[in-house]
Amino acid sequence: MIAEKEKAIGVFDSGVGGLTVFRELMKQMPKERLIYFGDTARVPYGSKSKETVTNYSRQIIRFLRTQDVKAIVVACNTASAMALDDIEEETDIPIIGVVKPGALTAAETTKNGKIGLIGTEATISSGIYEKYLKEMHPHVSVLGKACPLFCPLVEEGLLDDPVTTEIARRYLAGLVDSGIDTLIMGCTHYPMIKDTLQAVVGESVVLVNPAYETARECKTMLSGKDLLNEKEIELGSSAYQFFVSDAAEKFKTIANMFLPLGILGAKTVPIEDYK
Ligand code: DGL
Repeated sequence: MIAEKEKAIGVFDSGVGGLTVFRELMKQMPKERLIYFGDTARVPYGSKSKETVTNYSRQIIRFLRTQDVKAIVVACNTASAMALDDIEEETDIPIIGVVKPGALTAAETTKNGKIGLIGTEATISSGIYEKYLKEMHPHVSVLGKACPLFCPLVEEGLLDDPVTTEIARRYLAGLVDSGIDTLIMGCTHYPMIKDTLQAVVGESVVLVNPAYETARECKTMLSGKDLLNEKEIELGSSAYQFFVSDAAEKFKTIANMFLPLGILGAKTVPIEDYK
């Protein structure tokens, strides 16, 4: 039987966006095995209801549990905002989301107290970043903007494309004019178009990617529970596995544009069966 510490960490998102968190987990915890699930059949989550996103998240957690994971990272702001409180209560292994770590990074980054937030409609309207930011930094002002077209652009692999730049200009004009000094990329898809976003907002605005702090908190949490793996993992083995609910080939192409792994494939899972 495999020791608890040597089990994998499960990571999930609605699509390819969670790979931005996956990459950071790989960097900060090179001895950990990781299992990724991208819900490519049902992306985007950002325009769906709390009930639906919570139900999807439950199904994915059930699937990840069949892979015997020791902990779960919800690498999706929308699911972290809408479902984490409920699924945390129902899950008996450690589980961590991306919103709190992202808010913490932004609170530590801002100098003028004006923070911009971009994310899905669901994340922005949940007000969850604002809630955490105000707890950490009561005088901060948060200006949110939903950017629903970014997720499909990333899922289509248009990471460096004039269409993405034009849409970013339209979405971000108001934020730039309002004098923010910090911009939270509050959707895990957005760090994939970071260069475009930075060019549009200008160098004086610091872009916050919640992935770094999420991986750091995950490491601290595992270490606190004596769950960090100490054994070297064999490269080329099944250290990193990828599952999707649809379009595995397309996922593989975009994942390989982003991760330096040479991913050979992703397996398709009938996720609706995990009731
Ligand atoms: N990557 C996700 C997030 O962080 C979800 C994007 C979507 O599915 O709408 O919110």
